[in-house]
Amino acid sequence: MCGIIGINSNKSVSASIINSLKKLEYRGYDSAGIATLHAGSINEVKSEGRVDNLEKNSVVQNMVGTIGIGHVRWATHGLPNSINAHPHSSQNVSVVHNGIIENSTLLKKFLVSKGHKFKSQTDTEVIVHLITENLKTENIINSITKTLKSLHGSFALGIIFKDQPDLIIGARRGSPLAVGYGPNENYLGSDSYALKSMTNKITYLSDGEFCVIKKDHVEFFNEDGIKINKKVLELSSEEEKYDKGDYKHFMAKEIEEQPTTLKNGIKEYLDTSNNDINIFNFPWKINEISTITLIGCGTAYHSCLMAKYWFEELTTLNVNVDIASEFRYRKNRFKKDTLYVFVSQSGETADTYAALSLCKSKEMKTCSVVNVIESSIARDSEFVLPIHCGIEIGVASTKAFLGQILILYLLALKLGFLRKDLKRELFNKKLKDLKELPDLVQQTLSIDNKIQTISKTFNDAKGSMFLGRGFSYPIALEGALKLKELSYIHAEGYPAGEMKHGPLALIEEGMPVVVLAPRDDYYKKTISNMQEVIARGAKVLLITNKSKDEIISENIWETIEVETTGADLLPFLLTVPLQKLAYYSALKKGYDIDKPRNLAKSVTVE
Ligand code: AGP
Repeated sequence: MCGIIGINSNKSVSASIINSLKKLEYRGYDSAGIATLHAGSINEVKSEGRVDNLEKNSVVQNMVGTIGIGHVRWATHGLPNSINAHPHSSQNVSVVHNGIIENSTLLKKFLVSKGHKFKSQTDTEVIVHLITENLKTENIINSITKTLKSLHGSFALGIIFKDQPDLIIGARRGSPLAVGYGPNENYLGSDSYALKSMTNKITYLSDGEFCVIKKDHVEFFNEDGIKINKKVLELSSEEEKYDKGDYKHFMAKEIEEQPTTLKNGIKEYLDTSNNDINIFNFPWKINEISTITLIGCGTAYHSCLMAKYWFEELTTLNVNVDIASEFRYRKNRFKKDTLYVFVSQSGETADTYAALSLCKSKEMKTCSVVNVIESSIARDSEFVLPIHCGIEIGVASTKAFLGQILILYLLALKLGFLRKDLKRELFNKKLKDLKELPDLVQQTLSIDNKIQTISKTFNDAKGSMFLGRGFSYPIALEGALKLKELSYIHAEGYPAGEMKHGPLALIEEGMPVVVLAPRDDYYKKTISNMQEVIARGAKVLLITNKSKDEIISENIWETIEVETTGADLLPFLLTVPLQKLAYYSALKKGYDIDKPRNLAKSVTVE
């Protein structure tokens, strides 16, 4: 999704801006641009496609200027072309913007009536003209305050001015933004990863705030333009490595890293000497919580759904699961005895963040399960459970999914044990099984050859279905999501028992259907549902776990057997072949696996 970089320095900034934009590439975008200020004029270059295209532009290669802003754009208003790419500039002002201005049409009408001419189809351009208009009568601070107050919607902004050779303005409402501090230079960035290559000293802007970045100091203001003080945080100075190593794609690497993700999570949370789970500083008494509400988007939502099955199995808590974009606008009944759990890899997903803000405004108990611990969701929730899986670059979430469900499983186990819903003996047995899980996932990873052959049938089909019951149902949804986002094949995840209530009509001769039927309490029921689709011509790929008992069905097209463990841990193993199926299917089609079309890694607009 969109990303912002700004640098105010006493040396030329264009190369550093381009390098930082490259660090933002993993977010998913469709165009890029840069503007620098030199000798009282703003020079702007924009290009469609990758940052590489921008870098190759001869004007950029010779660009001078010690102050500048750069942007990668993920289109919301207007086509993904170079005209709509950011920055957008008037004669006086240049702006980069993440987010959506909801009242842009009205503002544009007003600005056109004042004689302003628009070049692009974007909502961002109204900000440029609004500042330009306000500057006619106000000083910089007042024109920014006035402009921000006129905007409805969400934004993170980077702004430079023709007449201000030592000033970048950053402003935030809804979309993340941070300031970084360097030697004789200061930075603006929408993502601490991008800033981390230049500094580990960071200040995060809160909603409604803006800042004035000069070469030697930074000032912060609240929404009324009144100066405020902000803390400088020191992040770990180790820059996380994220090269592909010997892998063709980040996704392939991230799938293979999953045993390490699990080992790290287990090491972090399991107290092996006392047979316990450490959830340090859990801020609530156990009897203060009788309901858990889990909230997320996409894959993180599937993690929440998975957790529902575990919480219901291991505790007597009431459990609700919600999609963040639905939760935030529903008439919810907020209850003091509910723990609201927000699940997000990036910790910046706009809908999940808005759902968290809503719960906070109602003074609810909030906890987040995140990968990026410096993120807005982590910073704003009362209690954080990090998943420790390292940076995830592939837009399709893989290791973060296993990381999230591990933490949620540990939380369910711990709460079940503390509430005395789970006896010590069973608790110990489950901890013992957990310790073996990373090795079992490792063994399950070696199924590539078979999956590669199978993926061809999926690529040749019009569509496919993924079926599961109980613990396997959220995994079926996740498998279908992975296939559709990577290989653009229509894939539907469904509870196997629901098929005859409608979707069975979709089944036709040769349609590939994945059936997840591990040997758990649902096994026989799922096998019956599988027979119903086979009888109607489906080509069934059965994914089950190894067992001494024979599979009780015939006419199955292909079977994959994952390793064996306790029923509640089988979802971890079932996930692996589905990730690989999506990967190989996209690989055969020659698609951009790490950056699928239309998608972004961090969804910072609603
Ligand atoms: C997963 O493969 C997706 N790309 C997507 O559904 C993602 O999980 C979702 O956007 C939520 O992101 P988050 O975990 O960063 O909040």
